[in-house]
Parts: sequence; C-alpha cells; structure tokens
Amino acid sequence: MEKRVVCLAGDGIGPEVMQSAKRVLQVVERLYQHKFHLQDELFGGAAIDEAGQPFPARTLAACLASDAVLLGAVGGPRWDQAAERPEKGLLALRKALNVFANVRPVQVDEAAAHLSPLREEIVKGVNFVVVRELTGGIYFSFPKERTAEQATDTLTYTRREIERIVEYAFRLAQSRGRKVTSIDKANVLESSKLWREVAIEVSARYPDVELEHLLVDAAAMELIRRPSRFDVIVTENLFGDILSDEASVLTGSLGMLPSSSHSESGPALYEPIHGSAPDIAGQGKANPVAMLRSVAMMLEQSFGLEAEAQAVENAIAAVLKAGHSTADLGGTETTVSFTDRVVQTMEEQV
Ligand code: NAI
Ligand code: MG
Repeated sequence: MEKRVVCLAGDGIGPEVMQSAKRVLQVVERLYQHKFHLQDELFGGAAIDEAGQPFPARTLAACLASDAVLLGAVGGPRWDQAAERPEKGLLALRKALNVFANVRPVQVDEAAAHLSPLREEIVKGVNFVVVRELTGGIYFSFPKERTAEQATDTLTYTRREIERIVEYAFRLAQSRGRKVTSIDKANVLESSKLWREVAIEVSARYPDVELEHLLVDAAAMELIRRPSRFDVIVTENLFGDILSDEASVLTGSLGMLPSSSHSESGPALYEPIHGSAPDIAGQGKANPVAMLRSVAMMLEQSFGLEAEAQAVENAIAAVLKAGHSTADLGGTETTVSFTDRVVQTMEEQV
C-alpha cells in the first residue's frame, strides 16, 4: 500500500513525538511492505516564525492533497503575546479539513491500571470513547470580541451540527457497547436544550442503542467516580476538551491519549490530545504513547491496516507491561529509549 501522510510537527514536544511516530511508521513500512510518503510542512509557532502565520497556504494545500494528516502539538510561551497565535492555526486546520468528529478513546488495560493515581478497582476495565464536536461551539461562534472593559464569546450550535455528531456517536456505539451518554448543560444553556432535543430525535433511529443524558458537572464527577459505566460519550467542543483531559488521569498521564478527527469526506487528522508541554520540551522527557496510538488509529481508520495498527498497540502495551515508562508515569525512559523499545518489540513480534 502507498499513502501520503502530511506531518505537522509543530512546537514544543511536537517535533519530539513526531520523530517517534516517523520511526514507527518506517518500521511498519519495512515489516509489512508499505510505502508511506511522509511530507513535513510548517505549522504553528514554527510557521509564524518562518512564514508570518500559523497555517500557511502551502500547508493547507498539502493537507487537502494528503491521505491523512498527523499533527504533534502547537503553542508555547514564546507566542503567547504575538499578534498571531499558533492555536489559531490549529482551529483553522480543523475547520479547513471540516473534521467535525473528534474521537478520543480512553482505555485502561488490566496491566496498566497501576499507572493511574486513582484506585485500581476504579480504573480497571475502563473502555470508552469521547466523541467531541470539533468545528462548532464557543471556539468558533461569533460575536467574539474584547475591549478593556468587556469580553464576549458566543456558543452557537445549529441543529445540523448537533445531528451529525450525535449520529456519529450512535453509529460508533452500535459497533461497541450500545450505549451513548450525551453530556450537556441543558438546565442552563439554550444550545444544550437544542442539543438534548436533537439527541433524543436521533436516538429514535437507533433503537438498539441506549441513550442517557448527563449534565456536564455531574459527568465530571462520574468520570472519576465510576468511569467504567461509560461506552460512548458525545458532547460539544468545550466540554469535550475539558472532560477528555480529565479522562486522561484514568490512564495515568495526558501523554497516553490519542485522537482522530473525521469529516464527511476527505483526509482525517490524527493527533495526541496533549499540547506542546513547554515545561518539558527539548529535554527528551515527552511520553510518545499518545502520538504512537494516534499513528495506530491512522493505520486502522484511514488506511484499513488493522493488523499493523494492532502491532503498534500490542508493542506499546508490552513495553508498559514490562515496567518501562517515561517520567510522567514515574519511569526513567526517555522519548527515544521508549520508542526504541516499541520498535524492538514490533520487530520481535512479527
Ligand atoms: P499541555 O498538554 O501541553 O501540558 C499539560 C501538562 O501535561 C504539562 O505538565 C506537560 O508537561 C504534561 N504533558 C503533556 N503531554 C505530555 C507528554 N506527551 N508526556 C509527558 N507529559 C506531558 O497543556 P498546557 O501546558 O496547558 O499547554 C501548553 C501549550 O500547548 C499552550 O500553548 C496550549 O495552548 C497548547 N496546546 C496545544 C494543543 C494542541 O496542539 N492540540 C492542545 C492543548 C494545548
Ligand atoms: Mg485540550
């Protein structure tokens, strides 16, 4: 198989975890006889420095012409006061690819339950997916303005936007545990009232899937109190952003969780859920697992390479099970040495 992957390393630990991703993709190429054309493009703060903007036209064109886009992370204190912010490029990329469905699997293997700061019996067997709406809501709606005395953000959702993300969640639930938890703030927000109404309408088309509603504040508590109750969570952009960082605690670190983002047609986007981690950037400390799991998701979801995706997942699980991890999980591995172990395990397992 021959595929074109655009690699947007970005800032901070982005280039470090991207390097791990490339190494693993090269191993997959070699072990399974594929060809991945890995094309680096400027993105984020690095693009601001070189091209004056976070998402240059050339990068956009490359992404649109690709089979999939792999992204590290963007942002950092260097650009916090700049006229253009790297994070603006990230929002523009998601919008340009129209990747409205952000899929964030949260899984705790039996052998990895001890990595969580929560009690093992709470996190054991956790296996759910957060489906986060990614191209609407408060990050994108207008008016959005600020003066010295007042600032405004707007949370707008259309029926169509809600319908397509809830549909996505129900279809996913049909292939899993047949339960959808829709998270909103319908006791206060108008957009959430519409969200809940549409969720109920969509659920009528999926009689084999159970629908429950949770208010976001209660959901935040349930996520750490009884996380194994969840199968598919569907929620709007901001709630999904916050709840998935919270969910990462179940796995022990933000450095563990991958994501994929899908449109109705066109290339999908794969990225770890974490940011550029400026506090540890350039020190070889970044946990590459979130990025490598994102690579596995790309292999499976965009390229249909199930065995290859499984090989990456199995290798990561085996290395963690053998007690090797980066500092965020209490271990002594570096980004490179952890990746070495994953690569070696893949070679041995074939
Ligand atoms: P962050 O996710 O970068 O870091 C939060 C904490 O988790 C830090 O202590 C960091 O060291 C740790 N961490 C994150 N990923 C890790 C990994 N792979 N291995 C080990 N430890 C890891 O969030 P923060 O600090 O709030 O934001 C930093 C910058 O990243 C900001 O400029 C922010 O806007 C940007 N950001 C970018 C995102 C993206 O590119 N998708 C997402 C979130 C934030
Ligand atoms: Mg986030």
